[in-house]
Amino acid sequence: MSDKKKIAVLPGDGIGPEIVGEALKVLELIGKKSGFEFDTSSGLIGGAAIDETGGPFPEETKELVLSSDAVLLGAVGGPKWESLDYAIRPERGLLGLRATLGTFANLRPAKIYDVLADASTLKKEIIQGIDIMVVRELTGGIYFGQPKGVETLADGSKKGVNTLVYTTHEIERIAKVAFEVARKRDKRVCSVDKANVLECTELWREVVTEVHKDYADVELSHMYVDNAAMQLIRNPKQFDVVVTTNMFGDILSDAASMLTGSIGMLPSASIGGKVGIYEPIHGSAPDIAGQGKANPIATIMSVAMMFKYAFGMDEAYDTIDNAIVRVLEKDHRTPDIRQDGCKVVGCEEMGRLILDEIEA
Ligand code: IPM
Ligand code: MG
Repeated sequence: MSDKKKIAVLPGDGIGPEIVGEALKVLELIGKKSGFEFDTSSGLIGGAAIDETGGPFPEETKELVLSSDAVLLGAVGGPKWESLDYAIRPERGLLGLRATLGTFANLRPAKIYDVLADASTLKKEIIQGIDIMVVRELTGGIYFGQPKGVETLADGSKKGVNTLVYTTHEIERIAKVAFEVARKRDKRVCSVDKANVLECTELWREVVTEVHKDYADVELSHMYVDNAAMQLIRNPKQFDVVVTTNMFGDILSDAASMLTGSIGMLPSASIGGKVGIYEPIHGSAPDIAGQGKANPIATIMSVAMMFKYAFGMDEAYDTIDNAIVRVLEKDHRTPDIRQDGCKVVGCEEMGRLILDEIEA
């Protein structure tokens, strides 16, 4: 391929710049090796954008992402901006980005690397071999539903409101993504809701069941979210694809990440919109920002997902994934996945080791 692809790079806050820095080196190296040219431009988002421009998702960033072929994002947020008004917090930048691009389907694969089976806080026999794909709805639900906000009542006390909303259309399209993804995997979808209590998710269950009629080759099951949280810890191997709402997906994907050893391991791809967003599922980890300790693997794997989903370069995905396996097999670990007898390396060193394996 010879046409130049435009990548918008939004490092964000905390460890964002460090991990994105390493991921960019991987992007460039794979590009060089495969004769694929990238034109990368950086933009501001989150707290970094608030400091510069007063808002978390400036107009220039909006224009940049809309004119790109893919977005690589680090993380947003931090204590410095926590006391700001909700409307201009760093997280709003990320939600604004997702809404602007319309990336309604967030794919979060939780797959364990064999060599890390001992790094999890769970027993090896429980997690060995897990390969789960969480398909999280990303542009609807309680994150975006109206009405929302905090108002002061006549007696001076306050009332906070968020609203869980899903339309048939929104549920149909995410269900289709989940069934399509399952077709390329083990052909099992578990739809997670709270249909016993929340009417909105009763509709979710109904619509997913209806969409399933077009996917008879895929097995569909339903689970309440509380049970799903428990089953993820009890017997995670029962899951193939998990499809769920924005908020349940946010929570369950953090839980699923710990099955793989660390939240520093999980990448994501947000697709279905104008331009895809590729970002780790973890946050900006302000406690370790700037110390060179962060695990860049989730972000590097997000670049791998970009190759696969934005550019159809499945081989590049495998090249990166295999390089990571070899680095881990040679017993290199960032502090979050530290194991006895292993060499602990920092963010940059981990990045360099992965680059070396890709070169090899
Ligand atoms: C995630 C994050 C975000 C979310 C925050 C930072 C807005 O937790 O991507 O999982 O809740 O979606
Ligand atoms: Mg989250």
